Amino acid sequence: MPTEEPNLAVAMRRQAEACAVLGSAQYALLIRGLVADLEAGGPTADLLEGRTDQPLRDAITLRLLAAVHRIVLRGDARGLAERYASVGGDNGPIDVRSFLETVAEHHDEVVEALAQNVQTNEVARCAGLVPAFADVARSTRLPLTMLEVGASGGLISNWDRYHYECHGSAYGDPASAVRLGHNWADPFDLSGVTEVRSRRACDVSPLDVSDPAARQRLLSFVWPDQRERFATLSGALDVALDHAIDVERADAGEWIGAHLPTRGTGTATIVFHSIVWQYLARDTKDRLRSVLEHEGNRATAERPIAWVRLEPAGERADVRVTDWPGGSERIIATCSYHGADVRLPG
Ligand SMILES: C[S@@+](CC[C@H](N)C(=O)[O-])C[C@H]1O[C@@H](n2cnc3c(N)ncnc32)[C@H](O)[C@@H]1O
Repeated sequence: MPTEEPNLAVAMRRQAEACAVLGSAQYALLIRGLVADLEAGGPTADLLEGRTDQPLRDAITLRLLAAVHRIVLRGDARGLAERYASVGGDNGPIDVRSFLETVAEHHDEVVEALAQNVQTNEVARCAGLVPAFADVARSTRLPLTMLEVGASGGLISNWDRYHYECHGSAYGDPASAVRLGHNWADPFDLSGVTEVRSRRACDVSPLDVSDPAARQRLLSFVWPDQRERFATLSGALDVALDHAIDVERADAGEWIGAHLPTRGTGTATIVFHSIVWQYLARDTKDRLRSVLEHEGNRATAERPIAWVRLEPAGERADVRVTDWPGGSERIIATCSYHGADVRLPG
């Protein structure tokens, strides 16, 4: 893909701006300090120069920050822990020299982490998806069969095991460790879901969240001063201890091609994904669409299908539903990419 990939310093500055805009003043300040060190030929230059020829696309800055956050989370960076709110720190400015000392102490581990993709599982996106799931349940009056593609650690597939409170309409488990209550700017009807009959999920690169290392990897990509996001993810990881989702390693198109035709009767099958579409190859998108259309044309009121997706539409994401029989499409909601500020469309 032809890109105008910026050099390392520019990529890092852009990441600093993104952190500032998206609510992590602490990381923005730290990255600016690292850029100064890079430009002075300090340890940041030795560590990052030449590591990738696409530092922005690879999010090399976030990989570095997550590598160190992981060390902090497991208690091996005492000097830094005082600043990281994720481990009870005061959220003050992170000293660049202390940060680079930690990098030097754990050099091989950090270098290994720089080669690994950023991997997230944004549980708050459930707040955008649940009004769509409820809408399908109300219109079909059937229990649900869930098929999630691009599920990462499978935490969103546990959506009915969390608790939601939206302008007086509540849904889910009131005792859940995950409580989504501040996400809705507008009222949505969350009623109508009677039962999730079965759920399956796939990802080309699944995370097994029963593995403590994978849990810590997911947590490390959350910016430490985003306490609510951190608490939501921690809660979902706890829920997954009792309700692990076996995320199958598979391409979305092939997997849906294998599972949608064998769906049951007397259940509404929902194929869904959130912030996945942009990562899919053209062949995968074509396959997914053609399986949905083919099976959609065979859908009946006893064997209906809905395709629910929370995907970027400009600066915000749309939550869209196409359902069969019929194949009509509607937008249920819009929200931020992270599932905050869920609004009615239009
Ligand atoms: C930004 S993450 C979103 C994860 C999750 N849906 C969420 O909202 O938190 C995108 C996910 O899509 C997965 N992915 C990319 N290409 C895929 C494919 N061809 N088939 C299945 N999953 C894919 C990635 O591995 C990654 O876990």
